[in-house]
Amino acid sequence: MDLYRHRILPRLIDWVMGQETLAEFRSRVVGGARGRVLEIGIGSGRNLPFYAAAAGEVVGIDPSTELIAMARRNAAAASRPVTLPVTFVEQTAERLPFADESFDTVVVTWSLCSIPDPSAALREACRVLKPGGELRFVEHGLAPAPGVQRWQHRVTPLWSRCSGGCHLDRRMDDLIRAAGFHITDLTKRYLPGPKIMTFMYEGTAVPAASAGQPEDTIPHHR
Ligand SMILES: C[S@@+](CC[C@H](N)C(=O)[O-])C[C@H]1O[C@@H](n2cnc3c(N)ncnc32)[C@H](O)[C@@H]1O
Repeated sequence: MDLYRHRILPRLIDWVMGQETLAEFRSRVVGGARGRVLEIGIGSGRNLPFYAAAAGEVVGIDPSTELIAMARRNAAAASRPVTLPVTFVEQTAERLPFADESFDTVVVTWSLCSIPDPSAALREACRVLKPGGELRFVEHGLAPAPGVQRWQHRVTPLWSRCSGGCHLDRRMDDLIRAAGFHITDLTKRYLPGPKIMTFMYEGTAVPAASAGQPEDTIPHHR
């Protein structure tokens, strides 16, 4: 089991997350980050080449020693050079070792599915964002069709055990709102592939307290 968790799984995650179909999401979500950025669940660092000049610094957290080591290597070997300062912190997202209001942007891409307590991680993200700061996210999660949802609930317990804790059936927008965010933009759609794994939630959110408006007045697109 240790061989799988520490050797095979990190390589599988790096390979899956390197799919070309994900690049357009990375480009939009990560490319819009600015200032001091916290990336939650940075994994093997696949987002790093997508940061634009407006991002001054990235702090990436992840509990996996192996994935952080890969992120360092990937950043050094990327075809698009990673020029901004990056700090890696081996840590879970549920309790962040950072001061309140200390980041301009929090980025999370396909990690809320694997974080054991995504609500706690999102509350922490909200806490460390400065007023006017932004959460930028893309996640897969619960699909709208009841038939697909049934399979997502059925498959998740087994899938989670072989995929490093990934849940197929989290309703990401509800989790984000419930943690204290006001969602400012949200697009939900299927990607090609098995429907239980490919329903995407992509968008931006701001701490509801600093937005000064009710949490649920959101444009929903499909
Ligand atoms: C599917 S990978 C996504 C990696 C990366 N965000 C990407 O887009 O390529 C999920 C990541 O969530 C990380 N993760 C799992 N539990 C976590 C936790 N409690 N806090 C932060 N990250 C966690 C895993 O180690 C893994 O790197």
